[in-house]
Amino acid sequence: MKKIEAYIRHEAFEPIRLELLELGFPSLTISEVKGSGRQKGITERYRGAELTNWLRPKVKLECVVASGDVQTVVDAILKHARTGSIGDGKVFVLPVEEAYRIRTGESGEETLQAHPGVAQAAS
Ligand SMILES: Nc1ncnc2c1ncn2[C@@H]1O[C@H](COP(=O)(O)OP(=O)(O)OP(=O)(O)O)[C@@H](O)[C@H]1O
Ligand SMILES: [Mg+2]
Repeated sequence: MKKIEAYIRHEAFEPIRLELLELGFPSLTISEVKGSGRQKGITERYRGAELTNWLRPKVKLECVVASGDVQTVVDAILKHARTGSIGDGKVFVLPVEEAYRIRTGESGEETLQAHPGVAQAAS
């Protein structure tokens, strides 16, 4: 099992969500974060004063999948998140030891995602 952790532009999230849903990966978490990459911030002038903003708003997308599904999910993220401009973001892949579905006590890969075509009530 792996966790895919992606830092992306806000606009990229909805197309990624829709494609992941279609591919059978409805389960994910997002948070709104601020971060910096390798650029040195954006400097703006405000009433004569120069202000440098080091932090840019990003969406952090977290999705835990079976190891064999990593490439599919990463490809979907790259496809929709890449504009070719500075600040498109980053994707990290981390190992995950175990997963449990709390309601049933099940564990392992079966708990991670739905299979394509399986209708689920929203949660
Ligand atoms: N090594 C890192 N560790 C943790 N978060 C990171 C790392 N690199 C990037 N991020 C997060 O990703 C966001 C987007 O990074 P960004 O796309 O600017 O990376 P970059 O390496 O500067 O590439 P680019 O030249 O395309 O801008 C950052 O604002 C930060 O939130
Ligand atoms: Mg950058």
